[in-house]
Amino acid sequence: MAFTGKRILLGVTGGIAAYKAAEVARRLIGAGARVKVVMTRAAQEFVGPLTFAALTGEKVATAMFGPDRDPLEHVALGQEVDAIVVAPATANLIGKVAGGIGDDLLTTIMLAATRPVLICPAMNAEMWANPVVQGNLARLQGRGLRVMEPAAGPLACGAVGLGRLPEPDLIVEAVAGLLSPQDLAGRKILVTAGPTHEDFDPVRFLTNRSSGKQGYALARVAWRRGADVTLVSGPTSLPAPYGVKCVMVRSARDMGTEVKALFPEMDALLMAAAVSDYRPIQAEVRKIKRAHEEMAFHLTQNPDILKQVAPLKSQQIVVGFAAETHDLETEARRKMREKQLDLIVANDVNRPDSGFQVDTNEVTLIPRAGDPLPLPLLSKEEVAVKILDQVVALLKTRDGVLVKNA
Ligand code: C5P
Repeated sequence: MAFTGKRILLGVTGGIAAYKAAEVARRLIGAGARVKVVMTRAAQEFVGPLTFAALTGEKVATAMFGPDRDPLEHVALGQEVDAIVVAPATANLIGKVAGGIGDDLLTTIMLAATRPVLICPAMNAEMWANPVVQGNLARLQGRGLRVMEPAAGPLACGAVGLGRLPEPDLIVEAVAGLLSPQDLAGRKILVTAGPTHEDFDPVRFLTNRSSGKQGYALARVAWRRGADVTLVSGPTSLPAPYGVKCVMVRSARDMGTEVKALFPEMDALLMAAAVSDYRPIQAEVRKIKRAHEEMAFHLTQNPDILKQVAPLKSQQIVVGFAAETHDLETEARRKMREKQLDLIVANDVNRPDSGFQVDTNEVTLIPRAGDPLPLPLLSKEEVAVKILDQVVALLKTRDGVLVKNA
């Protein structure tokens, strides 16, 4: 969604990771972007321009001069696109951009660029550790360019260390950050997601159908919009969202402990987790054996995390979720009152295409003050955008009140 209708310039420089840039191009296009590739001469030693032309459906720009070159491309390209990503970026490219050198098409485009830039370095570990390279990267960051940390692992030179190009999905996520409004910059946001596991014994537990998708989408989109995001997640099979601090928990009580510890320093809490309301009175230390025809378990209520957090609230915005099968709005409003929420996201989980496990959701956003906002069926990422729009507005109102009372 962040990419719909967006045009990205992908700069490819001459490192072995240039082959991974083809996958970056493919994923950007898969996400809805149009991609224009610019390759340095050395990059073409590793991958042919034809590969990128076939993937992007656009002519690849490879040189400043030549009979069929647009004479103003070196200025126009870096100003027309929505964002620029250089992946992989060699130490040479980084040094040239830091020093203001424009001796080929890509470096000249970078000199004239007015759009947000992401540099994805990939190189040998010693090169990465070289103070000259680090100094150049610091200069780029000082000028507002974003730099993605390389990943650790086996390198093409045989060594193991820092210097690998991050996985294409992570690069795409970092580009999504470049394209998003930074209206949550400086805000600390705590998101909970997923189900909880309440143990009967070492191998069995009580849980629910939550996949964690809505909470992870919230964490992802909040990071893109500039927030400092912490995600407290129950067990899920989802990858950790890029840039987000993740705290993995199992039970409702563990989740409660983490949330209460983190809450005081937050600007907002979005409690998307489907916390189990009950747990077995006792978790058996040994596996329960099959014995009788019938079996009964005694459950006890888990603490309500949102209710526990309410007395700790100072200026935080707190958002709760209500997944209901009946009387949606009445139930949601009751929870909003009981849990002292600023906003509640109500969803009817009877529909097969909304709620648990699926990628879409149909919700109504109910603020404490103001009219409910029913939303159509949207992707969970689009729902996250709408929820965070409300959080941005609530935070602004809160800031206004804090200034007035100061
Ligand atoms: O009462 P109910 O479980 O339906 O409330 C849902 C909301 O309360 C969700 O935001 C959920 O994360 C939160 N909750 C909680 N602690 C619980 C149960 C639910 O904070 N023990």
